[in-house]
Amino acid sequence: MRTLAVIALKGGSGKTTVAAHLALAAHLRGVAAMLVDVDPQASAHHILSARVGDGPDCLTSPGTKIMAAQFAAVGLKKDLLVIDTPAGVVEDVTEAIVLCDLAVMVVRPTLIDIAGLARTLAIVRRLGKPATVVVSQAPVAREGVEPPLVQRALKGLAYLEAPTAPVILRARTIYQTALETGRSAEEMSDRAAAREVAALWDYVAAAVALPQADAWPADPQADPAAAAPPPP
Ligand SMILES: Nc1ncnc2c1ncn2[C@@H]1O[C@H](COP(=O)(O)OP(=O)(O)O)[C@@H](O)[C@H]1O
Ligand SMILES: [Mg+2]
Repeated sequence: MRTLAVIALKGGSGKTTVAAHLALAAHLRGVAAMLVDVDPQASAHHILSARVGDGPDCLTSPGTKIMAAQFAAVGLKKDLLVIDTPAGVVEDVTEAIVLCDLAVMVVRPTLIDIAGLARTLAIVRRLGKPATVVVSQAPVAREGVEPPLVQRALKGLAYLEAPTAPVILRARTIYQTALETGRSAEEMSDRAAAREVAALWDYVAAAVALPQADAWPADPQADPAAAAPPPP
């Protein structure tokens, strides 16, 4: 089993959105996934409880019991455990990093958020864990050109020598509306968001060497939009 810790000491950076989408992406590809929600607000738990039909297992846990949740996931023969962590609680974040195979740091593309990331990055480096930084809630690139906000953010990340993921999640309402019913943006009609999530999944799954899972959707004919090439 592989474990991902989705972390950021700053609130509202997009951790729960990323954690839920990674757990759902795994589930949709036939990878047995469990999400453990360490945040007392239990947003990820509420999101996955709203899902109709089957989905990734989800349990809530205090930060001190993440290891018990990890043992439970192994006992249930899960392939993937995703830990969604609260903002600002260094102990919980540290515990999650110690137990993970990959720390997924989520950051909005503002200099204030990136300055806040430096602290999270320092903890990850001290613990010597593989890590990736996912920029989230970024304005959309126009004709392949990143908006100045994103360009500056990427420069800030380069300055910090942050291991930045090659996939940027854009600010899209579909990420909010899909999760209201426990669904992934991959299950909705906005193909741009679906492509972002699929690319993030591919990158993260490869980074933790998850065994090859089924391609999703299994039958592209079932969703012709999914099979269409990206717009020029
Ligand atoms: N890529 C995105 N596009 C649009 N809204 C987003 C995106 N990611 C997160 N949000 C919204 O931003 C807010 C904070 O996101 P959330 O995932 O709960 O952050 P965190 O768990 O880090 O506090 C939520 O209202 C969420 O719906
Ligand atoms: Mg959250």
